[in-house]
Amino acid sequence: MNADALVIFGATGDLARKKIFPALQALVKRGALTSKVIGVARPGFSLEQLRQRAKESVTEHGGLDPVAFPKLAELLQFVDGEYGQPATFEKLRSALGSAKLPVHYLAIPPSMFGAVVENLGRAGCADNARVIVEKPFGRDRASAHGLNQALLSVFPEPSIFRIDHYLGKEPVQNLSYFRFSNTFVEPILNRSYVQSVQITMAEKIGIEGRGRLYEETGAIRDVIQNHMLQLVASVAMDAPTSRDLDAVRDEKARLFRAIRPCAPEHVVRGQFRGYRSEQDVALGSTVETFAAMRLHIDNWRWAGVPFYVRAGKALPTSVSEVLVQLKTPPYSVYGESLCDPDSRTNYIRFRLSPDVAIAQGVRVKLRGEAMRGDEVELVATQQPNDHLDAYARLLGDAIKGDATLFAREDSVEAQWRVVEPILGDASALYEYDKGTWGPAEADRLTDWADPSVLRKPAG
Ligand code: BG6
Repeated sequence: MNADALVIFGATGDLARKKIFPALQALVKRGALTSKVIGVARPGFSLEQLRQRAKESVTEHGGLDPVAFPKLAELLQFVDGEYGQPATFEKLRSALGSAKLPVHYLAIPPSMFGAVVENLGRAGCADNARVIVEKPFGRDRASAHGLNQALLSVFPEPSIFRIDHYLGKEPVQNLSYFRFSNTFVEPILNRSYVQSVQITMAEKIGIEGRGRLYEETGAIRDVIQNHMLQLVASVAMDAPTSRDLDAVRDEKARLFRAIRPCAPEHVVRGQFRGYRSEQDVALGSTVETFAAMRLHIDNWRWAGVPFYVRAGKALPTSVSEVLVQLKTPPYSVYGESLCDPDSRTNYIRFRLSPDVAIAQGVRVKLRGEAMRGDEVELVATQQPNDHLDAYARLLGDAIKGDATLFAREDSVEAQWRVVEPILGDASALYEYDKGTWGPAEADRLTDWADPSVLRKPAG
């Protein structure tokens, strides 16, 4: 059933500005949001200021829609107060009025989740309600478990929507679709044909004033435990029996449980030079802004196939890509050096950003008498990316009550289990210069493909 009120905690925060208001405008535009939207934030703000902030947000991120934005501004209401004070939730209760199915979106630091959830319950705002929680979900397995218990004491599991916005991304959806809708893909996605898998999430930006938050997280908690492991699951999980909620989530959970907890010697952590002079960053901080690692999946399909994952800030470019490197042909009939294990000729590439592409690397014969070939790409799809799509998709789903693209409790805890041995200072930290691919030590894990190199299309 559709929700009839959307409550946003953290309405004046960074996430609301960058992602939530643009997503709300997109939902209003497609008629998927018609209910009241109640922003909750600390005292010192007014409804007019919130509207102004929403206006600046959509203008900066994607553009103001002259028809949809005024409608969104009309739907906005505002409640101010401290998150720890019951009075704030009394005000919220009356702002909800006759709403029967509210959705509460906690776009606030995880340390505040517990108090907000408890107060929602006490004030009667949680009855028949849904709750959306932002990542990172906890700081480790124990705190994620504690957080789950706190949420479950007020909301039943089907009403809890744990966001990982990578799951809402169109190209991530396409990755699953492409795998399970074509006959030729699944037979080769296994240890017999795959040499290795490389997943890169490179960001050109640094931490952009998010020092306080970043000091609490670092790259492993910020993006590896969630976004990157979700990508590993998308490319490695078995086919679900249907697209039903638990059919998909069961397969993912099974895959997460099969990933071997990562050993510190399989990790290289990096920090860009200059990070320690950023605002709200400790002078001697050992928080990583880059992490590269080798993961193993202990199951029949993937045993022995390394999954290399890296993510970092202040890298040369912004690009996310999954590269499934296939084994070389067993024997070179035409005398070319195809059997060189470094040859990257045969692969499947899923480009997630800045553009979206699915392509297969193959060799074709060059024209002429010689049996010599060239590397080309068969491009199945190539299109621009719509960065606002993921949040609009996920918020729309939460309003409708569809939790398929949200993380389940057991998966989140299994994901923490993978990264737990490498959290904090478990492995050495190396510095790197801004605008490079992280510390040189990361190259000892593997020979990384440069995802910014343009490949030659077939033709
Ligand atoms: C967020 C991280 O979850 O994802 C940020 O907290 C990161 O640090 C962001 O910049 C990247 O998202 P996207 O959609 O731009 O790849």
